[in-house]
Parts: sequence; C-alpha cells; structure tokens
Amino acid sequence: MVSNVAVFASGGGSNFENLALRSRESGFDIKVLIVDSPDVFALKRAEKLNIPSIIIDRGAYSSKREFETAIREAVSGFNIDYIVLAGFMRILSAEFINAYKDRIINLHPSLLPSFKGRNGIEDAYNYGVKVTGVTVHYVDAGIDTGKIIEQSAVIIEEDDTLQSLEDKIHQAEYELYPEALKKVLDGRV
Ligand code: GAR
Repeated sequence: MVSNVAVFASGGGSNFENLALRSRESGFDIKVLIVDSPDVFALKRAEKLNIPSIIIDRGAYSSKREFETAIREAVSGFNIDYIVLAGFMRILSAEFINAYKDRIINLHPSLLPSFKGRNGIEDAYNYGVKVTGVTVHYVDAGIDTGKIIEQSAVIIEEDDTLQSLEDKIHQAEYELYPEALKKVLDGRV
C-alpha cells in the first residue's frame, strides 16, 4: 500500500527533492509540499517535480495557533497519512503534534541526542567531535527528542571544513531518509 505524505520545508529543499525522486521505491507518494514563506527555494523544486505546493506564510499570521490552523486546513484536503519534515525550521505545538500522533517524522543533521537545535552540523563541527551524523526520528513535544527511527554516522576528518562536512551530512541524509521512511511505512518501527 502506498502512503500519502505531506512534506514541510523552510529552505533549499534538497531532501524534499530526493524524497520525491525516491518515493515510488520507498512506498509513499508526496501529495503536497507545505512551506512557511514565499521565498523558500523548495517551491521551485516542487514546480519542476509537478508536486502541488502551498505557502502558509508565518509572517501573515499573528499567532502560532493561527499559523498551525492554516497548515491543518491546507493538509486536510490531501488525505495525508504522514507529515515528513525536511528542513522545516518551526517548532510545532503539542496540540499540532497530538493531532498527528506518531505520524510526524523529522530529519536532524546530527547524532541525537547530541547537537539538538537549528545548527546541528556547525555545532558538531565547532565542538570538535570526530563522529557526527544524521538522525530520523518521530516528532514529540520536545525539541529533537522523539523516538529515534534510524541513524547513520559521518566521520569528521582532520581536513574537513564546515562546507565539506555539510556536503557529507547531506549525502548521508539522502541515503537515510527514504530508507527510514520505508521502514516506518512497512511497519518495521
Ligand atoms: C537538512 O540538513 C536537515 O537535516 C536540516 O535542514 C537541512 C535542510 O536541507 N534540518 C534541521 O536542521 C532541523 N532541525 P534541505 O532544505 O536542502 O533539504
């Protein structure tokens, strides 16, 4: 059975595009891309991929509650099984998360529980760890605290720069995220 997915993004959308390209083999169908600003580059990728996109501009809402109500209304038309966060840089409220209990999945660019938050790659690089990586996890009411689904490690070599580390992390993400989603959809976690 193919699961219907909504992807949420706030940035470049390279993971969104990768998921779209790997969706068939992974058992899901991206029904809609939701972004939180009209400037999000992922919109251009959605257009190219012929995937519907909806802008729910955070700046147009005076409260988080109204913003999230608008997201729920947008998503409700698509018969969505899972919400997949791919570089979505907003903290969702407990109320929103409960409405999709165990059906929101996030990608984080570190080996959680280390280096939570917005700058997982840079924080690991600056700390000087020799191993970092990528985590796919369920979203709960905490920040980057939900149950871990899959992880993959990335070695930081002596000659890595922040840029080369970012590239390695993204490559690890492109492998891990579709595989981890497939595992969820197959009921293996
Ligand atoms: C990815 O590295 C993802 O792990 C990270 O944002 C990037 C999005 O890249 N997410 C977080 O930091 C969430 N806290 P993309 O827009 O090119 O897919």
